[in-house]
Amino acid sequence: MTRNREKVVLAYSGGLDTTVCIRHLMERYGLEVVALLIDVGQGADLRSAARRARACGAADVVVIDVRDRFVREFVFPSLKANAAYQGRYLLSAALSRPLIAALLVEQAHRTGAASVAHGCTGKGNDQVRFDVAIHALDPGLRILAPIRELALSRDASVEYARQHGIEVEEKGRNPFSIDANLWGRSIECGVLEDPWQEPPEEAFFMTSPAAAAPGQPGLVEIGFEQGVPVALDGRALGPVPLIQQLNELGGAHGVGRIDQIEDRVVGIKSREVYEAPGAHLLHLAHRDLEDLTLTGELLRFKHAVDTRYADLVYGGRWYSPLRRALDAFIDETQTAVTGKVRLKLYHGSARVVGRESRHALYVRNLATYERGDSFHQEAAEGFIELYGLDLVTLARNAAAPGAAGAAADAKPAAAAGGGPATGDRGGLATPATGTEPAHAERAAAGSERQP
Ligand code: ARG
Repeated sequence: MTRNREKVVLAYSGGLDTTVCIRHLMERYGLEVVALLIDVGQGADLRSAARRARACGAADVVVIDVRDRFVREFVFPSLKANAAYQGRYLLSAALSRPLIAALLVEQAHRTGAASVAHGCTGKGNDQVRFDVAIHALDPGLRILAPIRELALSRDASVEYARQHGIEVEEKGRNPFSIDANLWGRSIECGVLEDPWQEPPEEAFFMTSPAAAAPGQPGLVEIGFEQGVPVALDGRALGPVPLIQQLNELGGAHGVGRIDQIEDRVVGIKSREVYEAPGAHLLHLAHRDLEDLTLTGELLRFKHAVDTRYADLVYGGRWYSPLRRALDAFIDETQTAVTGKVRLKLYHGSARVVGRESRHALYVRNLATYERGDSFHQEAAEGFIELYGLDLVTLARNAAAPGAAGAAADAKPAAAAGGGPATGDRGGLATPATGTEPAHAERAAAGSERQP
């Protein structure tokens, strides 16, 4: 009988919601379920998850390890973009969705299924990301979302699982809703729904509390090649082990915990807790290496691009021409982002303590306050005169007899020499009549450097 049933490919995680989904898809939708179990480095026991899917009635379970592809095609591009939603969330869950969507579509095509399914609720971002990505890849596929369509609460799912003898978690019921992969872990629900309550220690898995971190600081040197991390402490490493090692190190030092109020795509403000130790270290290092190697104007422009990139990933528009165009721009900027960055980790914090690149735009002889200075300081005066010329002009106009507010604003302008700006040399460097110029005082105060 089941041989004639239509098939659906379900994005299966092994957790409560997607396990319950298997049974709903069979019973309420009359479908044969192919459970797609995807390893993005969530660290779950995939064998027991596969066993659970079969026990629940899945006709087939397909397991794929896509950790390397996840990092190369999704995580590293986002790192090059310094992508942090609302300045903080490093997008661990958001980045995995377009890949999972692509795998669902590929598997549906392979098995001849007309539908794909996911276990998202109707309140979050993930449903948006899955649906938009799936239909961007194949608009003909039917998308089923049993939890959303049946408006099932978490409690209802727990109850349903109990009534139907569905095995959910191995060790008791987890009070949180978790999404995890190599790039980080998000923790929601339970006590975390009160934004005033500090997250309890049991919410965290990848990171130690700062107080329990080693008494000695940890040091690590991250090597980058065109914006992509390629080595730790001088040793070349592949993308997956590199992130794994930084997760270990950062986690041990209690680095990378985030507690954030976040604006979801669907208009809800939510409190989100994340831990992303490796991602945090890589972001710190990458941004610093950009500061060293990119021009100031490029950095300022790229910052706007980076923010847009994070919004786009968060909003599930990965398969868009805009994302591809932004990636092309970002890749162009990264040709100089090669070098290494040294980080120091200590009791929950991490900071950059050194950086080096053959593309560095930092020139010691220009920056130095010591011997060997090759900067032409005398050129600064003329530069400043022109640089501030508009403000001098404004001040002179304001001080002109009959100008609006001339009485109130007269003092500073009068001090700068007075009179309207009618073609006389009105530069800042022109000594004012009868007043001490500020730089003369400084010169008199001694040789102390005031950059
Ligand atoms: N707020 C995060 C995001 O929108 C985390 C989502 C976590 N997903 C989950 N199913 N628990 O990306």
